[in-house]
Amino acid sequence: MSQVPAIELTGIDKKFGVVHANKNIHLTVAKGSIHGIIGENGAGKSTLMSILYGFYQADTGTISIDGKPVTIRDSQAAIAAGIGMVHQHFMLVENFSVIENLMLGAEGGMLLAKGTAAARAEMKRLASDYGLEVDPDAVVEELPVGLQQRVEILKAMFRGADILILDEPTGVLTPSEADHLFKILGVLRDQGKTVILITHKLREILAITDTVSVMRRGEIVATRKTSETTAEELAELMVGRRVLLQVEKGSAQPGEVYLSVRNLTVKDGRGVTMVDNVSFDVHAGEIVGIAGVAGNGQSELLEAIAGIRKPTAGEIFICGEPVAGIDPAGLRTMGVAHIPEDRHHMGLVLGFEESENSILGYHRDPRYGQGLFLDPEAIRTDASQKIEKYDIRPADCRLKTANFSGGNQQKIVVAREIERDPRLLIIGQPTRGVDIGAIEFIHRRIVETRDQGKAVLLVSVELDEIRSLADRIMVMFAGRVVGEKSPDAGEQTLGLMMAGIAA
Ligand SMILES: Nc1ncnc2c1ncn2[C@@H]1O[C@H](COP(=O)(O)OP(=O)(O)O)[C@@H](O)[C@H]1O
Ligand SMILES: [Mg+2]
Repeated sequence: MSQVPAIELTGIDKKFGVVHANKNIHLTVAKGSIHGIIGENGAGKSTLMSILYGFYQADTGTISIDGKPVTIRDSQAAIAAGIGMVHQHFMLVENFSVIENLMLGAEGGMLLAKGTAAARAEMKRLASDYGLEVDPDAVVEELPVGLQQRVEILKAMFRGADILILDEPTGVLTPSEADHLFKILGVLRDQGKTVILITHKLREILAITDTVSVMRRGEIVATRKTSETTAEELAELMVGRRVLLQVEKGSAQPGEVYLSVRNLTVKDGRGVTMVDNVSFDVHAGEIVGIAGVAGNGQSELLEAIAGIRKPTAGEIFICGEPVAGIDPAGLRTMGVAHIPEDRHHMGLVLGFEESENSILGYHRDPRYGQGLFLDPEAIRTDASQKIEKYDIRPADCRLKTANFSGGNQQKIVVAREIERDPRLLIIGQPTRGVDIGAIEFIHRRIVETRDQGKAVLLVSVELDEIRSLADRIMVMFAGRVVGEKSPDAGEQTLGLMMAGIAA
């Protein structure tokens, strides 16, 4: 490809106060290619793309499109330069139809120049050229997420984009929706469009990109032809050290039943049934994973078992004892530990020092003090031991918890819950927002917990995570467990179940 690059960024630099989000970025994207940008949370990927799309202005540096320097002051200018963007959170008008959304100008006015008939014809052409089929008259909010995303892509193409940026597009998709998206991206590339795909998922990079750039701490640390790199190399570049990508684990040795759930029904705050008549068991010495697309009742199920949400019907037993209605503190004394999905609201008090969070919920334990009096020295000694064992950084238990990164905050919660030596460990999204170095560590701890004979119930929307950790996989769809599979069940089989298509 000796032609002029579609995009050339030179010396792009951006600071937010003291945070140096982009450092002297040089990036060349070939026309007609799929260029991946991979990096951990906070590496600066979205910032860089926001600069390209005109949401932010770089402090220094230049942007050239098709060899011509451009100034992109706002998204209007980006669209004029032929750039389209599919955001993490869609920017569609939900109660409008697809065609209305397409015709809606960037400033909110209808594009009257193109009449509806012309718009429909154009939409038809885009559908057949790029595989972007959607019913023009469907109301956006009634479409599944995968189709809403397709409307976003259509909208960019409708405005004449030659360059399409997608920022973490698969986070909200089922595996089969993601596959479909990748097919579309392949067609776009083959038709000469340029695609930039931002993701933290190595598998996606290897599956569909031509070239990949790795970002770490605001810098592009490497660019490779995808065919000439490996998952291991990319992971090492992302983290800055070698990481083990595959969890090493032997087969489970299940013992007696620790957790029994029978005909459990749970409603959310609005009275909508989120968990619908669910029954299952978890044995000592096994990890049971619950897979599903976010919002299918997994969170409510976990909250009910953890004593945070009251079930409306059914029973929960821990080692044969009925526990529905017992609060989290009561469950803790029965040997139930909980790593909550939403650590900012339930797992940690960010204004407290690290040592205080390291015993949160367990402060009545006599080892931390007598009666009403806590013993700060004992607490700090205990916290420092966990900091060392879990490699929590910075290694300072007096520091406010808010000053730790997301991955380290998660390790504080994981250390606290696992080190309590629970009988049953329930975990929601153990590695959401956590970088791959810390993921490796947390996964190893979860498997060790199982190998010590504890029962583990794991909910994650990352199917890969469930498949590599769980000994048995249950799939939830629309509040029900639609089936159980072994972890060797193919991704496609599980994906179909997650979409509610096959049981
Ligand atoms: N508007 C903003 N104000 C202050 N800091 C920001 C802003 N946007 C991003 N950051 C910071 O810049 C860094 C890079 O963030 P981002 O580009 O979102 O990373 P990524 O997309 O790779 O996860 C992070 O430390 C983030 O907290
Ligand atoms: Mg981002």
